[in-house]
Amino acid sequence: MGLLILPILITLLFSVAQGSPQLRRANDRQGQCTYTFTVPSPKEGTCAEPGEAMTAIRELQRENAAVKQDTDGLKIRLSLLEKVVNRLLGGEGTGQSTSSPQSFSDTQVDVRRLMLEKDEWESQRSSLEMSYSDLLKEKASLEEEKQRLTERLEKVQQRQCPQVAETSRNRDQPISPRQAPYVTDSHGGPARTSSAQGKGGPSELSPWGADGVGYQELKSELTALPASRMFPESHSTGQGSATMGTPGCGELTWVGEPTTYRKADNIAGKYGVWMKDPEPVSPFTLDTIWRINTVGADIRQVFEYENLDQLVKGYPTKVYVVPRSMESNGAVVYKGSLYYIRKKSKIIVKYDFRTETVAIQKELVDAGYHGKYPYSWGGYTDIDLAIDEMGLWAIYSTENAKGSIVISQLEPKTLEAKQSWNTTIRKQAVANAFMVCGTLYTIASYSSPTTTVSFAFDTHTGVQKQMSIPFQNQYGYASMVDYNPTEKKIYGWDNFTMVAYDVRLSKM
Ligand SMILES: *[C@@H]1O[C@H](CO)[C@@H](O)[C@H](O)[C@H]1NC(C)=O
Ligand SMILES: *[C@@H]1O[C@H](CO)[C@@H](O)[C@H](O)[C@H]1NC(C)=O
Repeated sequence: MGLLILPILITLLFSVAQGSPQLRRANDRQGQCTYTFTVPSPKEGTCAEPGEAMTAIRELQRENAAVKQDTDGLKIRLSLLEKVVNRLLGGEGTGQSTSSPQSFSDTQVDVRRLMLEKDEWESQRSSLEMSYSDLLKEKASLEEEKQRLTERLEKVQQRQCPQVAETSRNRDQPISPRQAPYVTDSHGGPARTSSAQGKGGPSELSPWGADGVGYQELKSELTALPASRMFPESHSTGQGSATMGTPGCGELTWVGEPTTYRKADNIAGKYGVWMKDPEPVSPFTLDTIWRINTVGADIRQVFEYENLDQLVKGYPTKVYVVPRSMESNGAVVYKGSLYYIRKKSKIIVKYDFRTETVAIQKELVDAGYHGKYPYSWGGYTDIDLAIDEMGLWAIYSTENAKGSIVISQLEPKTLEAKQSWNTTIRKQAVANAFMVCGTLYTIASYSSPTTTVSFAFDTHTGVQKQMSIPFQNQYGYASMVDYNPTEKKIYGWDNFTMVAYDVRLSKM
């Protein structure tokens, strides 16, 4: 009878050993069999590349299939074994098929032998059953791993198929991802649809964090006090405009009506940043447009558009994913790099678009952050970066300054503060601020359709003065206001809408 069972077991062991999970058998010195199951552990890709992720997923799928096949095979064979064992236990009556006919006198010996064999088989069976349940567990963990990798792959695909997230309008006609040039047909749609990866793609929105729009706006309501009560009297001496040696520089005298360029498609674009680089470096140009939707718990995507026309149509050339989340919309693009505030920190990150790496990051010493000194509209606008004819600036506040605006001129290469100025303008009392020719200008309201540029602080003279240049918030929620010194324009993001204003300076 043992001869009958042995081939079955051998077959069983063989077939199991062929799949990825391996069952090994060894005889110890007492002639007892020991069985070992080995299942290769899933790959630990901490940051799998898309290709790697795909390969890993395919491997896992193959492994899964193999495991399933093996376990199914095991089940069948186990039940076969059971039948054989039962038959052995059930007595000789059914034993006709056995190859060794026994005489009645031998029966007692056989029965004893069979009892021993039965015990052995029982223990082997239970060990196989245990192994089987281990296999099932392994299978479950493989499936978990597969799920994890699938999610990762989706994220990667989302990065690679930015237009999916960029505009729902284009979702059914994905364009080539990453820098692939695309052609626009005569109907204004993409002439070529490349990968199908965008189809059934991931959701449009970043997952909501605790710091969603509602919370930010609620916070802004709590902190927005009437400006009139918060300004100390200005030190204006009426000295007039500063000593501005820079060509084309002067004092801000007029801001035009906003021109609307584009409305964001979804809530992620209620606030945002859009701008041109005033001093672009090749391969970027003065036409290149940069855009970031800044609502969400994980703001990392930066859209690049070839020009205004492509922005309006919603076709980005490329999407960059910065390595660390940013906070709010204080970011600027200057000389081929993005400067932004890292989430929940006072760290300024310089991200080089050409190498797609972080060139440098540095803490802005003493700066309040993450809701300590935001603009009146909230949105963790504690640290606002700005570009003007003089270069790169940070507009923020500190504990020492007790919430008044501090301005620092930054060295773009090192992010060191070259020089700083204290103003007496309460940061939380103004809606926004921007720099023009070394002078800080602040806007009184983010929601009033007819507000004003109400204060100026000239870093050349240290003179602060009140002013009243009309400024329109056409859409009722201005979250970003930034100056472009090359175009002499103000770029703004007003309640989902990308707008721009012409400006006039006194000596232009
Ligand atoms: C700004 O004010 C702070 C606190 O009063 C002071 O420590 C700092 O030296 C001032 N900075 C400048 C440039 O005046
Ligand atoms: C902002 O825009 C949304 C959608 O266009 C609109 O419903 C809302 O009233 C606007 N908010 C303000 C303050 O105007």
